[in-house]
Amino acid sequence: MFALMLAAVLSFPATVLGQAKPTAKTATAAQARAFIEKAEKRLKELSIQYAQADWVSQNFITDDTAALSADANKNLIAATTEFATQATRFDGLKLPADVARKLLLLKLSLTLPAPKNDAERSELANLVVSMQGDYGKGKYCPDGDQNKRLDLGALSRILAESRDPKQLLDAWRGWHAIAPPMRQRYTRFVELANKGARELGFADSGAMWRAKYDMPPDAFAREVDRLWLQVKPLYDALHAHVRAKLREKYGADVVPENGPIPAHLLGNMWAQQWGNIYPLVSPPEQEKTFDLTEILKARKTDEKEMVRIGERFFTSLGFAPLPQTFWERSLFAKPRDRDVVCHASAWSIDFKEDLRLKMCIEITEEDFQTIHHELGHNFYQRAYNKQPVLFQDSANDGFHEAVGDSVALSITPEYLKQIGLIEKVPGVEGDLGYLMKIALDKVAFLPEVRPAEYNKAWWELRKKYQGVAPPVARSEAEFDPGAKYHVAANVPYTRYFLAHILQFQMFRAMCREAGYTGPLHRCTIYNNKAAGAKLNKMLEMGLSRPWPEALEALTGEKQIDARAMLDYFAPLKAWLDEQNKGRKVGW
Ligand code: ASP
Ligand code: SER
Ligand code: ZN
Repeated sequence: MFALMLAAVLSFPATVLGQAKPTAKTATAAQARAFIEKAEKRLKELSIQYAQADWVSQNFITDDTAALSADANKNLIAATTEFATQATRFDGLKLPADVARKLLLLKLSLTLPAPKNDAERSELANLVVSMQGDYGKGKYCPDGDQNKRLDLGALSRILAESRDPKQLLDAWRGWHAIAPPMRQRYTRFVELANKGARELGFADSGAMWRAKYDMPPDAFAREVDRLWLQVKPLYDALHAHVRAKLREKYGADVVPENGPIPAHLLGNMWAQQWGNIYPLVSPPEQEKTFDLTEILKARKTDEKEMVRIGERFFTSLGFAPLPQTFWERSLFAKPRDRDVVCHASAWSIDFKEDLRLKMCIEITEEDFQTIHHELGHNFYQRAYNKQPVLFQDSANDGFHEAVGDSVALSITPEYLKQIGLIEKVPGVEGDLGYLMKIALDKVAFLPEVRPAEYNKAWWELRKKYQGVAPPVARSEAEFDPGAKYHVAANVPYTRYFLAHILQFQMFRAMCREAGYTGPLHRCTIYNNKAAGAKLNKMLEMGLSRPWPEALEALTGEKQIDARAMLDYFAPLKAWLDEQNKGRKVGW
């Protein structure tokens, strides 16, 4: 995740804000430029104020910090709405390309559209900060015992490590119990956001989100379907194998032979990354030859040093080190004495150099990966910081989520040996295990479930795409989507689906640039300045051009394509198909 204050984004045929009639006769291009420059200046000030307030509210969850953050958010939303409405007076006017694009971005920029009515706008801003705060404070007390309070970190550790289905179920239920109290607020929140979107000329706020991809929303939806069909056979093969192994482990009365997998057995609270159950499903004889979590712990690597290692990867590509203030102002470890929003995020407070990470780091391989993910956001933010404010964002939101992961694909055994974390690179016989571990995190993630749905619809979608089922009967008294951060915090989620495909495409391009020709999964671009320079070309463009052009700057390709991902996993797919002979695939 990354925190974007000036909720940004993009281009499709104008007139989305149909209410005002073009007054091209009276307005001029020079006025349009002056207008947008004034708007950018004001929105920048308000975005910085909101970023500061929200940083404090997420780092110190209290009623007062929530009120300050909601107020700053409200001011930003109000000003953006006002400017977007005024901007319609330039509709139909022939404008220089940059001005036209900025006007469009301005109109599409709100992730949280709000009604013009001031009371409703305040109510909405308060709802968002309060749900996010409740998510951050969420705890489960087994047996109602306050002394045994477990937060999401502790519950996630149980999901990752325990192999006792009773204990897993208890932790799963315990966390999901934080959400029902949000249900009513969420309903009201959706109502108000949709009202805000309608006032801006969209069908609802989902339609507004889908309008941000430089193409008509329907065409974009077709792109997503096309990509999903490209990767579905790989997902299905992994799913079938994992289900069979879990059935061996937990027995026929816990795991069905042909149906969806119960969601508490996959090593992750949302069953979205399965790497933690690697030992249960690994190819025989392929138990990893090393365990990065153990190595990091044995070396007494601390939170900051984990981040330093990540930073050094980026500097090895030619990027400048992070500023001193990053080290002074970031949150790296969970404070003992207060509640914070632990969900990892990367921030640029001032559109310049004030970059920060906020993360409750644990010394694990998973967090080692997530740190590279977050730093990808920070290096992107700094790479585009010379762009005008409205262009200070990624080419589309999937790009922001993909960059750090595409770099992290270079965390190969070869690289770990180069930086002295392991002594010996396993031979090719280790490849299947390595690919399996990565597939459990990246392929398992693909069936992106649109989170903004209610309980029954939520589980129907999860069954349809993901092939997982609730471990116990659920009713409309529950609110399971709210137990997922991005729902409680209003973060559009399609970006992660796109990112999981894009990162392999970007990685392949960087490996090509580095002159690498071997199997893709063995490539590392560590220390390669040519690959870094090429990456930077795309990053520094920010949102100034439609995303296909940014993709082309790095990859030479204008379409998002899952081929790189499929090539990367090809040896694993062949092995999975072999294993799955005689098993039912699908659910
Ligand atoms: N950055 C991740 C996400 O974008 C954070 C995480 O995996 O915890 O939400
Ligand atoms: N960071 C995102 C999430 O936690 C995607 O992995 O859902
Ligand atoms: Zn992210």
